Amino acid sequence: MKDIKILAIESSCDETAAAVVVNGREVLSNVIASQIDIHTKFGGVVPEVASRKHVEVIGAVVNEALEEAGVSLKDIDAIGVTYGPGLVGALLVGLQYAKGLSFSRNIPLIGVNHIEGHISANFIQYKELKPPFVCLVVSGGHTTIVYMKSYGEFEVMGQTMDDAAGEAYDKVARAIGLGYPGGPKIDKLAREGNEDAIKFPRANFHRESLDFSFSGIKSAVLNYLNGMEMKGFEVNKADIAASFQKAVVSVLVDNAIKACKQKGVDKIAIAGGVAANSCLRETMMLRGEKEGIEVLFPTPILCTDNAAMIGSAAYFEFINGKSASLNLNAVPNLKLGER
Ligand code: KG4
Ligand code: ZN
Repeated sequence: MKDIKILAIESSCDETAAAVVVNGREVLSNVIASQIDIHTKFGGVVPEVASRKHVEVIGAVVNEALEEAGVSLKDIDAIGVTYGPGLVGALLVGLQYAKGLSFSRNIPLIGVNHIEGHISANFIQYKELKPPFVCLVVSGGHTTIVYMKSYGEFEVMGQTMDDAAGEAYDKVARAIGLGYPGGPKIDKLAREGNEDAIKFPRANFHRESLDFSFSGIKSAVLNYLNGMEMKGFEVNKADIAASFQKAVVSVLVDNAIKACKQKGVDKIAIAGGVAANSCLRETMMLRGEKEGIEVLFPTPILCTDNAAMIGSAAYFEFINGKSASLNLNAVPNLKLGER
């Protein structure tokens, strides 16, 4: 069978990214232009600034991805592009660029759900991986446990009722003065702290529920900081980071394992920016070993936002005969499995 080459474009948040992926698994190029330095000044992503920056660099990022892959547009079988969920202005930049290429070169267009992209990063990392499996998607905007029945077929088993895990990391990091993005900074600082120093609460849902809540943990950290300040005590930031992280990770791991047991599967894939977290990786591996569940993680660069993962998801849509029309619009709150 002929190789299928997908040019993928991702611009849902603060990374402008393009990649060329063969047969959904082999990455020829994966170019990421990050805007982190710009947004750090504001303590978080400023949507309008993000859109403008995407406009400035998208052309160069796509050209670099093609060049690095050693291909030109006439070698490309389809263009995969994220059309949601994400910031509407940011999404529109990638989407319009992809539509322009698709129309002018007569190349099929595939709309990709960003979350489906995160899950698909595992297909790049593990060449033999096939559904069914359970996936824990943990990012700045999402915390969801999904059962992937087959390619493109998902069942949401649990999700956050308030903040996403990455969002909680970012908010706590800001509160203790670590800056944006907080996840990697807390991850690093926590290694110097005692994870049992402070007892932060875990979300308390019904025993069978796989839903999450992280706003309570975040508020407990803020209350602790206020209390210490009022008493005039110094805080140990590393202990706060480690104790907060333990509270978040233990809930993520417990629910992920419960989901595998409910479905009777022995394989769990982790995806999204927080999947780069070292504590989550270690704790998940240990629990997986104990429970006889294989734990899969993409390499950190495939966990955070990138276009290779979009290229992988687009491939499975393409071979199933699904393509989008040029009327495809950005859907900021697109749900998994929705078309
Ligand atoms: O998947 P992603 O790049 O973008 C979204 O789709 O949201 O995830 C970004 C999130 C941010 O909240 C960031 O703080 C978090 O992932 N993150 C981490 C780590 N690296 C990134 N959180 C914890 N530990 C990390 N090492
Ligand atoms: Zn993402």
